[in-house]
Amino acid sequence: MSDSSEPVCPFLDPTAAAMHAEAAELRAQGPAVLVELPGSIKAWSVTRHSVIQALTLDPRVSRDFRRHWPGIGEVPDGWVLGSVAFQDSLVNRYGEEHRQARGRIAPTFLPRRVKLMRPQVQATADRLVAALGALEPGEQADLRGALARPLTMTVICDLFGVPEEMREALGALIDQVLDSSLEEEVAFAAQTELYVRLGELAVYKRANPAADLTSDLLLSDRPGEQPLAEHELVGTLFTMIAAGFETAVNLIASAALEMLTHPEQLARLRAGAIDWTDVIEETLRLEGPVMYVPLRYALEDIDLGEGVLIAKGDPIMVGFAAAGRDPQEHPDRPDEFDPARADKGHLAFGHGPHFCVGAPLARLEAEIALSTLFEQLPELALAEPGQWPARLPSLIVNGPESVDVVPRPRTGTA
Ligand code: HEM
Repeated sequence: MSDSSEPVCPFLDPTAAAMHAEAAELRAQGPAVLVELPGSIKAWSVTRHSVIQALTLDPRVSRDFRRHWPGIGEVPDGWVLGSVAFQDSLVNRYGEEHRQARGRIAPTFLPRRVKLMRPQVQATADRLVAALGALEPGEQADLRGALARPLTMTVICDLFGVPEEMREALGALIDQVLDSSLEEEVAFAAQTELYVRLGELAVYKRANPAADLTSDLLLSDRPGEQPLAEHELVGTLFTMIAAGFETAVNLIASAALEMLTHPEQLARLRAGAIDWTDVIEETLRLEGPVMYVPLRYALEDIDLGEGVLIAKGDPIMVGFAAAGRDPQEHPDRPDEFDPARADKGHLAFGHGPHFCVGAPLARLEAEIALSTLFEQLPELALAEPGQWPARLPSLIVNGPESVDVVPRPRTGTA
């Protein structure tokens, strides 16, 4: 990899407790910085907006770990970033193979198709918000667990025909395999169990095909297209279910938290000076729900300037959530939440050929969840104002562990 004259290699904190501060330091150090990941794996952390754009578009950069990661043999069993780095699906394909795999999934999530999902998403949001509204005055609830998670989980599991009784266990395992602070044995057990459960889902869907996306993947009969092999089906189910809810959960939770801690912005929204799209885009910029996506690999030496050379075969960690706070891109108060700002540009959904398939769905879910919540519960307040919830212990996903609220204050009449 890099030569021995490298300065001290910083260790990326797997608890992500001060993720933005850590990213700011790395961003200041150079266009890419060699860091140590859990499992003693070294990779280049990329946190500048312009460099992320360049590398995600660069054909000399691949996500295919099988073909393009010479160092794969050094990875320990139960590596905490392995659940994403080794997903056997479109995310980790390169070139033509990637285009084909993406072509099977992407059409379902085009904006015009997603528009048709609105009534269903709205009905789920109405049901969940009504349950919050039915709590006793003064009673607390966690918006992550009571709204954001069940909403996004229901939407993606309905699309893929996941039976009700399998959802909770799958969701809990997916939460676990995204936790970068786990011991390797614990991570290994969770990863193994997740694949057992996904295998059971595949068996169930083979036996019970229906009008859903899993059945489409199993029965694919488009000309020139083979049905997915078992390992790829299971990998694709993991990608879609995990990407479908773990990310959007954080968008909804972070946006709600920002609005509850910025009452002046809520007042502006209610007065029509800003709308939910402004809030959602600003949350994506400030609190991108996906931080690092492990991994990419250099197919050739890549000279980034400023004395930084990514050598052929080196792994790269792109920090999508770091781009939104890059002062080069947002010189005006990059760390401040301001939905009215003109420059809400971000790379929260990625860039280039792997750009998020689910962006229109995520935006729709967030808009419906937030508007329903704040319209139906006008007195919604944080349970413990002034106390910021802990962050998820993950290098991959970014968001608050909980957003504890009082939907109906004790003294209120709502
Ligand atoms: C706020 C919510 C979301 C965020 C922030 C987000 C973020 C991202 C990012 C950053 C990538 C690029 C990964 C890379 O290039 O390494 C990505 C890819 C992807 N996302 Fe999302 N995502 C969200 C919601 C969703 C939803 C709801 C779905 C499912 C319907 C989804 C499915 C995917 C898939 C399948 C890919 C891989 C695309 C490819 O490799 O070609 N995402 N997402």
